[in-house]
Amino acid sequence: MLKWILGKRTRTSDRGVSLPSGNLPAHVAIIMDGNGRWANRRGLPRVAGHRAGMSKVREVIRACDELGIRCLTLYAFSTENWKRPPQEVEYLMRLPEEFFRTEIDELVERGVRVRFIGDTSQLPPYTQETVQRTLEKTRDNHGMIVNFALNYGGRADIVGAVKAYAREVASGLASWDELDEARLDAHLSTAGLPDPDLVIRTSGEIRLSNFLIWQAAYAELWFTDVLWPDFTREHLEQALRDYQRRKRRFGGIK
Ligand code: FPP
Repeated sequence: MLKWILGKRTRTSDRGVSLPSGNLPAHVAIIMDGNGRWANRRGLPRVAGHRAGMSKVREVIRACDELGIRCLTLYAFSTENWKRPPQEVEYLMRLPEEFFRTEIDELVERGVRVRFIGDTSQLPPYTQETVQRTLEKTRDNHGMIVNFALNYGGRADIVGAVKAYAREVASGLASWDELDEARLDAHLSTAGLPDPDLVIRTSGEIRLSNFLIWQAAYAELWFTDVLWPDFTREHLEQALRDYQRRKRRFGGIK
């Protein structure tokens, strides 16, 4: 084990844990689950779990940037999350405003480019303002890309891509005969980004819940019982080490 680590360049985390620098995922996507349970176990309102979860967003962005992950996607609000009580929805909708108010300077300093995936036109006006302001402030950055999935659903993403393509067909810019995976891919909200190599889900649930269902076709999946507000850089490194040991064949033999 020691020889294996010495044989490769390693990155050392703040706590001295080594992570071989080769074979890191280019794109990590995270389903940040378990905020409500975390709060319930402490006798706190569910929104306290979301607040604690927000500080983990900060921690994970920093860690990914320092580890050299090029792209990070975070599932912050799904198309199905509107079914929650209005007070919880409103709290979740207010979090981006608070998050970017306090984090924008560090994100810009790190060269992070923030993107949003999902139908942001349906978000409340104050959330849309935050989205626009953040896009503008980070537009010219060339470092890590952080995608916030807000009002995102994988099925809606695919339907949106088909509709966008249909509009091009209607205006004579494309034809149905030419439609293939690459062309559909280019009309998804993640156009231009690599597919996620690694999808992490916290809280013990073992499903994708409509997250990047097209893009994650060949992603490695990593599940942990840890609730999102308890997730640390060490858990992230554990997932990355596990990923580094996987053999990805993409349907081929080797
Ligand atoms: C799922 O846990 C979590 C969410 C629906 C919200 C995730 C949002 C954050 C972590 C904060 C996002 C921060 C920014 C900056 C946008 P759950 O509430 O479903 O947990 P449960 O399954 O235990 O009830």
